[in-house]
Amino acid sequence: MAELNAANAGTYQFDDQFKINRLGYGTMQLTGPGTWGPYKDPQQAVSVVKRATELGINFFDTADSYGPWFADRYLAAGLKQAANRDQIFISDKVGQTRQGPSQWTPHGEPGYLRQQVEVSLMTLGLDHEDLLFLHRIDSHFPIADQVGELKKLQDEGKIKHIGLSQVSVDEIKEAQKYAQIDAVENLYNVANHKDDDVVDYCEANHLAFVPWFPLNTGKLVGQGSPLSAIAKKNNVSEAQIALAWLLKRSPNILPIPGTSSIQHLEDNVAAANVSLSDDDFDQLSHLAE
Ligand SMILES: NC(=O)c1ccc[n+]([C@@H]2O[C@H](COP(=O)([O-])OP(=O)(O)OC[C@H]3O[C@@H](n4cnc5c(N)ncnc54)[C@H](OP(=O)(O)O)[C@@H]3O)[C@@H](O)[C@H]2O)c1
Repeated sequence: MAELNAANAGTYQFDDQFKINRLGYGTMQLTGPGTWGPYKDPQQAVSVVKRATELGINFFDTADSYGPWFADRYLAAGLKQAANRDQIFISDKVGQTRQGPSQWTPHGEPGYLRQQVEVSLMTLGLDHEDLLFLHRIDSHFPIADQVGELKKLQDEGKIKHIGLSQVSVDEIKEAQKYAQIDAVENLYNVANHKDDDVVDYCEANHLAFVPWFPLNTGKLVGQGSPLSAIAKKNNVSEAQIALAWLLKRSPNILPIPGTSSIQHLEDNVAAANVSLSDDDFDQLSHLAE
């Protein structure tokens, strides 16, 4: 059996320092219901992060709004124990406020974005953000002011790379007037690839594309999954098919499946060993139509 390691998914070169394994991990499941409050078993949450590092995952996606703050605390605790901490790349996000379970309100006031970066750096124990996404463009403030504040923080050495989340190609082009954009994080999976144009733009222009809900919040796995027949044929799980499709779709795609289970984490990392045939890939690509 092939070794279980995220490195088998191939790599993506972010910069001179970071060539990361393409299969990452998202921390959003490490909270209470509705992405609110602490995870029911904080030690388990820390153990999942630690196990992810042991499995070769060196790209972690997080946000202060997950909890808020709880996911970041578990992430920081789990990474503290990692043997290769200096090779781990974190993407963080600012621009959302939370009012309660499942409630999210974008807020892009530049001073607030700055505050979020400063507080997140303290929570995560970092002196700079490797990659900082504007979680949502807030229509109440000019893009120039929101991206401009991130550019100022970048010039101050507090952010290395700037990204945008849930944006169109036109919005990326607008933001690129004010800063270099190195990554985009949009909703994208085998059952929902409305943003194919954004993926193509990212690949053509050397931006990473981080698909959120890579497993469609778990709807692509388990009983009744539209991926079951191909999963059975390949003798792998539905989750592995969903992730293998993303990995084959574009070399710029960096999936970040979320889980609070070590068993599911290991299942997801095994997707790095799955090589989909062109026929299976084409069949899967038509599922969403
Ligand atoms: N930028 C944005 O606006 C945005 C929005 C949403 C999410 N995100 C990011 O995207 C990441 C991924 O999204 P997500 O975690 O919400 O959704 P997801 O990865 O599509 O799916 C997670 C769900 O699938 C289950 N699951 C995971 N692996 C499994 C497996 N191998 N077998 C069976 N079930 C499995 C999880 O439950 P268990 O815990 O039981 O495994 C959980 O319910 C987040 O963690 C976050 O970092 C970003």
